[in-house]
Amino acid sequence: MRRKLAAGNWKMNGTNASLTELQALIAAHPTPQVDILICPPATLIVQAAGLSADSPLMIGAQDCHAAASGAHTGDISAPMLADAGAVAVILGHSERRQDHAESSTLVAAKATAAHAAHLTAIICVGESLAEREAAQTLDVIAEHLRHSLPDSATAANTVIAYEPIWAIGTGLTPSPAQISEVHRFLRAELTARFGAEPAQGIRLLYGGSVKPANAPEIFALADVDGALVGGASLTTAEFSPIITAL
Ligand code: G3H
Repeated sequence: MRRKLAAGNWKMNGTNASLTELQALIAAHPTPQVDILICPPATLIVQAAGLSADSPLMIGAQDCHAAASGAHTGDISAPMLADAGAVAVILGHSERRQDHAESSTLVAAKATAAHAAHLTAIICVGESLAEREAAQTLDVIAEHLRHSLPDSATAANTVIAYEPIWAIGTGLTPSPAQISEVHRFLRAELTARFGAEPAQGIRLLYGGSVKPANAPEIFALADVDGALVGGASLTTAEFSPIITAL
């Protein structure tokens, strides 16, 4: 039985003042039935981890470098994130793939580094609108999944997030049938690579304009084990009902 996961990605949002939202979220979910993870910007990880230390809420990061240390100005390594209090890291988000030209091969190297530092890697896959319209969705997802997932991936250290690029921050969401098709495909691909039992344990999240209003319908789908939420994770007022809907 896969435990559900509500993951919030604050992206490049948040200052010290935003930590009041985190405190409110912790207070609202003292004994959650699901895993709750917030990935604030790197500048807030230490404070966020301190605030949530005695609560079930977990703190993650939004990226890491593939190396453990070295001359990489501006980058942060997986062991540093773990040292700061993170337990997970989002990798291969489409915004990183686009803004920083990250390839699936690089994402796999980062995931290997994350696993070595005992961080859960949340690996993102997803097609653009042009790719969906050209009927290339499953080809793109297959490429992302096959090449972004290192051999060290297990159900305990890896989560896959399906995020159609055209649904991120747009208010658009795929139909339930479209989400189900991709999640079924992901499960089949994982089964082919890792075997039925390990593949059954890997959690599959949906991400892209998840809101309190559409969360129940999305969470009712088979093979959807939770959500990776952007905008709606910034406030407890919006994120809390999404958690409750899981
Ligand atoms: O990582 C989160 C996703 O990119 C979804 O963002 O909920 O603002 O559409 P969004």
